[in-house]
Amino acid sequence: VIIAGNFKSFKSRKGTAEYLKELNSLVSDSSQEVIVFPPATALDNYDGKVNVGIQNGYPAENGAFTGEITLDQIREFDIDTILLGHSERREILGESNELVKEKFDFYKDHNFNTLLCIGETLELRERGFDEVKSFLLSQLEGIDLSYEKLVIAYEPIWAIGTGVTPTNDQIEETLKVISEVSKKPVLYGGSVKLNNIEEILALDSCSGVLVGGASLDSDTFGEMVKTADRLS
Ligand code: 13P
Repeated sequence: VIIAGNFKSFKSRKGTAEYLKELNSLVSDSSQEVIVFPPATALDNYDGKVNVGIQNGYPAENGAFTGEITLDQIREFDIDTILLGHSERREILGESNELVKEKFDFYKDHNFNTLLCIGETLELRERGFDEVKSFLLSQLEGIDLSYEKLVIAYEPIWAIGTGVTPTNDQIEETLKVISEVSKKPVLYGGSVKLNNIEEILALDSCSGVLVGGASLDSDTFGEMVKTADRLS
């Protein structure tokens, strides 16, 4: 399965290097696909089992896009995995479905592994599952759902950083709807911790997890990977 960690805007370059050294030694024998997304300033050519991806990228090779990071800078570090459409980018930075799709198309054309995040607000969840379903499908509109290197991460916004997770039935019901439109792996993200990863990974439609806070400690994240190893 895929065990991915999103550092968001935590950790320095030095902290990331130390972390990867520790995590790589903890998970070197793992049969899971382990990915971490450090801040862009911490990218480097890291060796080891853990695949390092980027949290975002502008859809251009290079150009006049002040403050953005484009393909040329990403390629310098042999990065071939990108996280797209994270809810924090959608909510805080105002990324629209159209921009996310533009990024997806661009990085797909350049053969990247793309982890596309989708997820609803609490307000929407409270309006019932039909609303959730049509919202999630709208976030996938125009996305090539058969792209070989696509992974979808379902992250309900109300479960991110809150310690609240949906019930296992809610997670399964939602991942199943996504699996019906795409045969690609679907991950769950939102307050995944060492104490709930096992039950989440056990869900039929779950191909892995995208972890925020709990991925910041290499021992904890290493244990999460080992939990997945024990289950497989
Ligand atoms: P938390 O695991 O901290 O809830 O974050 C989830 C997330 O947003 C991962 O991308």
